[in-house]
Amino acid sequence: MREGTAALIRREDYVAPAYWIRTVDLTFDLDPAKTLVTSKMKVERNAAVPHGPLRLHGEELNLLRVLINGESVSFRQEGHELIIESAPDADFSLEIRNTCAPEKNSSLSGLYTSGGGFFTQCEAEGFRRITYFLDRPDVMAVYTVTLRADKAKYPVLLSNGNLLETAELDNGRHLAKWHDPFPKPSYLFALVAADLVSREQRIRTRAGRDHLLQVYVRRGDLEKTEHAMNSLIASIVWDEARFGLPLDLERFMVVGVSDFNMGAMENKGLNIFNTSALLASPATATDADFARIESIVAHEYFHNWTGNRVTCRDWFQLSLKEGLTVFRDQEFSMDMAAAPSARAVCRIQDVRALRSVQFPEDSGAMAHPVRPDSYVEINNFYTPTVYEKGSEVVRMYQTLVGRQGFEAGMKLYFERHDGQAVTCDDFAAAIADANPGSALSTRLETFKRWYSQSGTPRVQARGSYDAAAQTYTLTLKQHNPATPGQEHKLPQVIPVTMGLLSREGQVLPLQLQGEAAPVGTERVLVLDQAEQCFVFTGVASEPVPSLLRGFSAPVILDDGLTDAELLVLLQHDADAFNRWEASQRLALNRILQAVRTGETLVLDAAYLDAMRTVLRDPQLDAAFKELALTLPGEAYVAEQLEVVDPQEIHAAVEAAHVQLAAALADDWAAAYEANQVKAGYEPSPVQSGQRALANLALSMLVLHATRNGDAVWPGRAYQRFKDATNMTERLGALSALVNAHAELAEPALQRFHALFKHEALVVDKWFALQARAAEDGGKTFARVKQLLQHPDFTLKNPNRARSLLASLCMFNPAAFHRADAAGYVLWAEQVQLLDGINPQLAGRVARAMDRWTVLAEPYRAAAREAIARVAAKPELSNDVREIVERALA
Ligand code: PHE
Ligand code: ZN
Repeated sequence: MREGTAALIRREDYVAPAYWIRTVDLTFDLDPAKTLVTSKMKVERNAAVPHGPLRLHGEELNLLRVLINGESVSFRQEGHELIIESAPDADFSLEIRNTCAPEKNSSLSGLYTSGGGFFTQCEAEGFRRITYFLDRPDVMAVYTVTLRADKAKYPVLLSNGNLLETAELDNGRHLAKWHDPFPKPSYLFALVAADLVSREQRIRTRAGRDHLLQVYVRRGDLEKTEHAMNSLIASIVWDEARFGLPLDLERFMVVGVSDFNMGAMENKGLNIFNTSALLASPATATDADFARIESIVAHEYFHNWTGNRVTCRDWFQLSLKEGLTVFRDQEFSMDMAAAPSARAVCRIQDVRALRSVQFPEDSGAMAHPVRPDSYVEINNFYTPTVYEKGSEVVRMYQTLVGRQGFEAGMKLYFERHDGQAVTCDDFAAAIADANPGSALSTRLETFKRWYSQSGTPRVQARGSYDAAAQTYTLTLKQHNPATPGQEHKLPQVIPVTMGLLSREGQVLPLQLQGEAAPVGTERVLVLDQAEQCFVFTGVASEPVPSLLRGFSAPVILDDGLTDAELLVLLQHDADAFNRWEASQRLALNRILQAVRTGETLVLDAAYLDAMRTVLRDPQLDAAFKELALTLPGEAYVAEQLEVVDPQEIHAAVEAAHVQLAAALADDWAAAYEANQVKAGYEPSPVQSGQRALANLALSMLVLHATRNGDAVWPGRAYQRFKDATNMTERLGALSALVNAHAELAEPALQRFHALFKHEALVVDKWFALQARAAEDGGKTFARVKQLLQHPDFTLKNPNRARSLLASLCMFNPAAFHRADAAGYVLWAEQVQLLDGINPQLAGRVARAMDRWTVLAEPYRAAAREAIARVAAKPELSNDVREIVERALA
C-alpha cells in the first residue's frame, strides 16, 4: 500500500550501487504464519562511487537483528529502507534475521502460499518482501540456500542451482541445501516447498553434457505435463542449434503453481509457471493453449541466456531481456511450425496480437517508449510495448543486418557481456559492431529512436507510374503523432520489405535507379527520413506494390491501395502475410465506411466473392483460410477511428458476421465437413488449422441458422459439443452456441460446468467464454454481474479474476461500454476490491480505461467520472494510482 506520495523514478537518475553483495547464504525456517529468514552476506564497498551509508530495501518484514562482522551495529528504518550509516570501508560480512508472513501475502509478490505450498515471485521487486537486500538487478551474488520445513506437508524443497545435501531434522522436519554457481540478481531467486510430483527426463546435449529436466506439479496433474516437457526439450535443442547457446546447469526445473500474477518466471534453473501456461491435455486444453505453452516454456528457457547470463542494469532496460526473449520465442515457434505457410500463420497471429493490444497502448494514456524514461511502479511496465514492440525492434535489427549478421551480433553480445548487467545501448552496439557498414551500423543513432520515442509511426506510401520512362516512383513519408510527454518526434529507421506485382499478379524484378541490373524480386527499403522517394526502372506496366511484407516494422501503413489492387494482392502476393493483410483491409474498409457514415453495412459482391474464392481454394491451408476469413476485431477497428462508439462498432462488425455467414452458407458447410480431423489428436499446425477453420465455419453456420429460426446447425453444434474428444472442438461448439445466442447455449453451459467443475483451468474458460460473449442487448453484462456472485468466482486467484474482469472490461467493448455507465461502475468497484488483495493485478484491470479520451459521449464523460472516483480514494496502491493518474493527466 502507498505510504505518502510515491516517487517518480527516472532513468537518468541511475547511479551504481554504493555496495556490492558478492555471496548470500540464506536459511529459511518455513512456516505459513511466520517464516524465519537468516541471510549472511559478503559485502564489498563499490570503490567507483563516493562512500555512503548502506541502504537495504525491505517491505512488510519484521526485523530481528543486524550484525556486521558478527557484531551488532546501529541502524535505522525509514519507509522501505534499512539504513546502516557506519558500514565499513573494507569487505565485511552482514547478517540479517527477519520474519515474514507468507499466508497473509495475497499480492503474490515475495514469499507466499498457494494450494498448501510455499512459492516465491521476486521479479521485479519481490525479494525485498522476503529479506532486506540491495534488491536491484545490477547487484549480482552467488546464492546458497537452506530450506527447513515440515516433511509431511512439504516433501519437495527446491531452490536455484544444484542440490548439495538433504537431511532429516527433529519434529518431522527436513532440510535441503541448494547452491547456484552463477552470480545472479535477486529477482532471479526462487524457492518452492510443497507436496508435488515430477515428470523427469534425462538428456544429453550436443555439447555432450548430461542434464536432468524436471517438471513439478500437484499430484494428479502429471499427465498434463508431457507437452511442457517436450517443449522444453525442443527449446534446448533449438537454442543450441540457432544461437549456439547451451544449457549451463546440470539440473533444470519447472514448477507449476495455480496462484500466479503472470504467465511464468525465469528464475535461474527453477522456472515457476502459472499452471495455465504449463498444463495441457487434449481434453482440457485448446490448440491455442498448446501453442501458448510451447512458446512460454521456450520463452522462460531462453531467458537463461537473454536475461539471466546477461541481465538488465536497471528496470528501464527491461526490454533488453523481454523484447529479445519474445523475439527468440517467436522465432522458435516459427521454426517449430516448419512449413512456410505455417510460419506465416505464426507471424500473422503475433501481428494481430500486437495491433490489438500494443497499438492501443501506444496511442493511449499509458503510451511509453520501449525503454521508458520514468515510472512510479515498475510492475506497471511489464507491457505489450516493452515485450511485443520490443520484440519488433529486435526483429528490425535482424531485417537490417540479415539473419547471419544478427547471429554474429548475438555472439558478440555474449562475448562482451556474459555475467554482466547491461543496457539496451550495449545490445545495440554489439549488433552494430558485428556488422560494420550495414544498413543498421550506418544509422545506429537514428535507429535507437525506437527505444526513446513512444507512439506508432504512420507511414504513407504513394506510387506513380511513368509509362513513357517505364519507371515507378514510390514516395514514402513517415509521421509519429504526439504521445504523452512527447510532442514532437524525429524520423525513425523503418525497414520496408517490399515487392512489385503486375496487375495480372506476376512478380516483377526490382531494379532501383542507378543499379545496373535487377536485384531479386523482394528487397528492404530503408526509410529514415520524413520523406523519401525510391525510383524503380524497367517497369513494363503499372505495378501493384506489396509493402511492409511480413510486417517488417511496427507501423501503421497507409498505402492508398484500391479494392482492385488489394484483390490482386489477396490472390497473388508471394508474401502470405500481405495476402492476409489484404483480406483484413478489404473487410476493415467496409466496416469503417459503415461506422463513419452511420449507414448500415452491406457486404458487396466483390468482397464476398473474394472470400468465397479463398474459402474454396484447394491450394490454401485451413489455418490461413481461417485467419483471412476472420473479421478484424472490434479493438482493431476502434484503433482506426478518432472518435470511438463501441456500440456502433459492435453493430457493424456483427452485421458483417451475419452477412458473411449468410452469403457463404453453402461454402461454410462444405468447409466444415472438409475439415473434420479424423486422426488422433495432435496440436500440430495442420490439425489445429483444420480445427480452427471447422470452428469458424460452425460459428457462422450456427449464427446464420439462429437468425433464421433454423434448428439444424444449433442441434449439430450441441451434438458436437457433447461428443467432442478434445477441448478445441468442445469449446468451439460451445462458443458457437453462446455467441449466436442459440437456445441450446444455456444447457450446454450448464453441462460444461458440471463436466469440468474440478478442473480450475477449464472453469476459467467457462467464465471467460461467458464474459466475452457477443453482447446482446445487455444480457452479457447482466450475466457477468451474476457470475461475480458464483460460488466458484474469487478475486484471490488471478486467473479466475481475469477470466471475468479482464474478459469483460478489456476484451468485450460492447458489453463493457454502456450508455448507463454500469460497466464503469463495476470496473471502479472491482478495481478497488482487487487493489486490497493484489495491487499488481488491480493495476492491470485498471488499464481497461486507458483509451477513455477517444470515446464518444455519453461514454467519455461517464468514464472520466469513474476514473476520477477511483483516483480520489486515499488508500490506493502505487500500481493503481499511477494508472488512474496517468489516465486523467
Ligand atoms: N519475467 C517474466 C517473463 O516475461 C514475467 C514476469 C514478470 C513474471 C514479473 C512475474 C513477475 O518471462
Ligand atoms: Zn520474459
